[in-house]
Amino acid sequence: MTKNKLAFFVDLKPAVEDFSAAVAHGLSQSPKELPCRFFYDEAGSTLFEKICETEEYYVTRTEKALLSQIAPNIAAIAGPGCSVVEFGTGSSAKIRILLSALDAPAAYIPIDISREHLIATANGVAVDYPDVAVGAVCGDFVGMSALPKEAAIGSGPKLGFFPGSTIGNFEPDAAREFLGRARGVLAPGDGFVVGVDLKKDIERLNAAYNDATGYTAAFNKNVLARIRDELGAAIDIDHYEHVAFYSEEKSRVEMHLRSLTAQEIALGDRVFHLAKDEMIHTENSCKYSADDFKALSEAAGFEHVEVWTDVRNYFSIHYLRAPG
Ligand code: AVJ
Repeated sequence: MTKNKLAFFVDLKPAVEDFSAAVAHGLSQSPKELPCRFFYDEAGSTLFEKICETEEYYVTRTEKALLSQIAPNIAAIAGPGCSVVEFGTGSSAKIRILLSALDAPAAYIPIDISREHLIATANGVAVDYPDVAVGAVCGDFVGMSALPKEAAIGSGPKLGFFPGSTIGNFEPDAAREFLGRARGVLAPGDGFVVGVDLKKDIERLNAAYNDATGYTAAFNKNVLARIRDELGAAIDIDHYEHVAFYSEEKSRVEMHLRSLTAQEIALGDRVFHLAKDEMIHTENSCKYSADDFKALSEAAGFEHVEVWTDVRNYFSIHYLRAPG
């Protein structure tokens, strides 16, 4: 991987997380849980891309279409010469839509914990947008409350970008705290564009997380495959079932793995017992109304400038501004 096309590359050397300790911790909880960030090894990322292509998972294609439609509005609010700071790097399709619409964007600075993916995305954008200075920060954007000094390129305002409804993986309190820290990454007056999946009819939500082809089930079970392959636990994945449902009370889709038999997961010298039908909670995907998210962003200290939704009212893109 080369990084010579980049204006800068800052490696904050995010601690290589101890997968084993996190799994042991999660399986010691009651109810048992596993953090959703472990879904995304290479196999998991490929499965997520497959999910995005399913008929049922409307999220990605709805956001892309909405972003294409309203990108000129974002550009008009943001003004010329922005430096776009992206929190995470998914597929680069969305940042390309945004950069293509903005008026002479000065810079693109993605922040991601996944070094290879970050460099590949940043280099791809650098090649295709030669007038944009592209730099990359390898680090954990979740805990980040300031950008490293090298990232101060471009003299215009910054524009934060956080698409994909990734913010839905935080519970509302944690989402508010994340937004509060993101204000520190931005300067007073800077914009922040956030993609948020909307509350909608239960059938639509349940279908989106239970696609008929079974990619979501495979994605959910992939975390068990990782525990088996990387941590050497003897796990028979067929003895677990994918469960996903919308909780009206908590406004979120929950994913779980249900143990189909009484069984054990042995991790080193620790043994975790699962009763028949016991569930391991693997993900929350919180859904908001446009007004709910407006209120949340204001509680985090942002000025809420604008919200756009698609015609079916499935997905929202919010334009926030750091006050000052
Ligand atoms: C990538 C976190 C937005 O919550 O909808 C897709 C992940 N989980 N299907 C989501 C996911 C199950 C997705 N995010």
